Amino acid sequence: MPSLPATIPDEAALDDWMSRPSDALTSFVATLRGPLVVLGAGGKMGPSLCALARRAADAAGHDLEVVAVSRFSDPDVRRWLDARGVRTQACDLMTDDLGALPDAENVLYLVGLKFGTQQAPAQTWAVNTLVPARVTERYAGARVVALSSGNVYPFVPVASGGSLEDDPLTPLGEYPNACVARERLFQYGSQTHGTPGVLVRLNYATDLRYGVLVDLAQQIAAGRPIDVTMGYLNCIWQRDANDAVVRALEVAETPMRPLNLTGIERLSVRRLAEALAERMGRDLEVVGQEAPTALLSNVSRMVETLGAPETPLDTVLDWTAAWVAGGGPTLGKPTRFEVRDGHY
Ligand SMILES: NC(=O)c1ccc[n+]([C@@H]2O[C@H](COP(=O)([O-])OP(=O)(O)OC[C@H]3O[C@@H](n4cnc5c(N)ncnc54)[C@H](OP(=O)(O)O)[C@@H]3O)[C@@H](O)[C@H]2O)c1
Repeated sequence: MPSLPATIPDEAALDDWMSRPSDALTSFVATLRGPLVVLGAGGKMGPSLCALARRAADAAGHDLEVVAVSRFSDPDVRRWLDARGVRTQACDLMTDDLGALPDAENVLYLVGLKFGTQQAPAQTWAVNTLVPARVTERYAGARVVALSSGNVYPFVPVASGGSLEDDPLTPLGEYPNACVARERLFQYGSQTHGTPGVLVRLNYATDLRYGVLVDLAQQIAAGRPIDVTMGYLNCIWQRDANDAVVRALEVAETPMRPLNLTGIERLSVRRLAEALAERMGRDLEVVGQEAPTALLSNVSRMVETLGAPETPLDTVLDWTAAWVAGGGPTLGKPTRFEVRDGHY
């Protein structure tokens, strides 16, 4: 990995670092026959993921077409992708004719709905079930990496080592259960059509514009106390998550199996807050007491198959503290990692 900067000054620099492929990704992308179709590309991860795949293809000298499919509710996102050599195709995957999408051997599925689940549970279930059912029919012959969430697990004892892929999926709340349904529909499609794939159970990608570390840093900057009842978490720098999501195509299996994806450390919220407050030169007020359970994933299988994430946590803490203290732009989309009753 190239030496990392001490701080990331602006969004242009952030986009650049976010889309630098690993050597492993560059080698892998060279083996793909195009196009690489990314569904739900207009959200928090999709744009940087598409740009990363495009740059990996360029680095490999491989003419791979990357096609970003989304409704593009935010037209700026479409322009941003177009400017980076990613082909964009507007499509509402819930209602439009999916026959208009390009045939592809490799598909990444990023569609989801989390925020506002409590206000719109029917919409959450529809997005997380109807769209996968349609996509598994359309891309029955492709390799599919479908994003899921670590939220499909119940909370586990903090000292347990985290949930394993074969553990029972008994989470609390409508959003996590809709995520379980999303997985089951992909598995059903995989069993029915023999579609190879991977269900990536991601826990908290962190960017500088959103993520668990930004949530904490913003609370510290505002002088608000940090509640440590949800005392532990896992997170991963978004570039490392995106890099792994593309490479997960390489470990696709029939029928599809889940794979946890996050950082290798179990992180204490109290210690993270202390580290950020110190870097930001701010006082820290902590309230509550760590609960004996938390949402934690075990990443043994990820380390075995895809390797550990490259970017060190200390570096991400440096970047996040400087970004938030300096008033860098954020999306205004808190992760709500502290929620313990399933009401997102
Ligand atoms: N980010 C994380 O930390 C995290 C953690 C755990 C799991 N995940 C999972 O990873 C996936 C990607 O994460 P993300 O943060 O990028 O999610 P996101 O911000 O919700 O992006 C998903 C995008 O899918 C598009 N979409 C929704 N309905 C659609 C439809 N009917 N047709 C076409 N496109 C549609 C939307 O963009 P348009 O408005 O352009 O259509 C939306 O922004 C999600 O499935 C999520 O469950 C993410």
